[in-house]
Amino acid sequence: MNLILMGAPGAGKGTQSEFISEKFNIPAISTGDILRHAIKNETELGNMAKSYIEKGALVPDEVVIGIIKDHLSGESCKNGFILDGFPRSIPQAEALDAMGVKIDAVVTFEVPDEVIVDRMSKRRMCPDCGASYHLDFKPSKDNKTCDKCGAELYTRKDDAPETVLARLQNYHTQTEPLEEFYEKKGILKRINGVGAVDEISKMTLDALSQL
Ligand code: AP5
Repeated sequence: MNLILMGAPGAGKGTQSEFISEKFNIPAISTGDILRHAIKNETELGNMAKSYIEKGALVPDEVVIGIIKDHLSGESCKNGFILDGFPRSIPQAEALDAMGVKIDAVVTFEVPDEVIVDRMSKRRMCPDCGASYHLDFKPSKDNKTCDKCGAELYTRKDDAPETVLARLQNYHTQTEPLEEFYEKKGILKRINGVGAVDEISKMTLDALSQL
């Protein structure tokens, strides 16, 4: 199964991709995680992407299209994949089509902006293993260190309130038009992204089981 997960920043794409990946035994490819890993390792890609990410802008299309091309050609994607955070613009979606990749479903998690702003203020991340927590909904045992590897948790720079607003604005102008793009293809599934994580996972898996 080849899937795309869409939704505003903090809508729960990463959280839900873990469940779907486990259920269908397919890898999740997060362009955000790949870019953050590159920034941490100060690679050429990371140094280029840093300024875009920190101000809440999209990294240029040709860069992320190149990343996705590399990943999709890998052996691990031969039985299917989940794209978490790609495509985020019409040119990116057209590039995916041009690669000849058949997408079975595009799931978009719908969450109002005001819920997003509150959620992002309470997200905490592990710098080492990338695990993601939420102070209220998914706290680590002591709310300070990672349950999986013990590293001290941090707040993503782009989760600062003013950057979240910029990311939301970019989402509405550049990414939201993709809903119509995929609706016309008849593969868009809208899921209410507000509520308990388990309930949202159940709705998502139900929608995918009808494919
Ligand atoms: P990326 O890391 O993909 O950021 P994003 O799309 O803004 O999404 P997030 O990772 O912030 O949130 P999410 O939807 O995965 O939510 P999560 O599950 O973590 O990208 C970062 C940047 O990289 C972009 O801004 C851009 O600059 C660049 N980039 C990436 N891809 C690109 C592309 N294709 N083109 C160009 N540039 C690109 O949940 C969020 C929080 O809420 C967590 O704390 C979680 O525990 C909590 N939570 C989840 N579900 C619930 C729930 N139901 N109730 C309560 N809390 C919940």
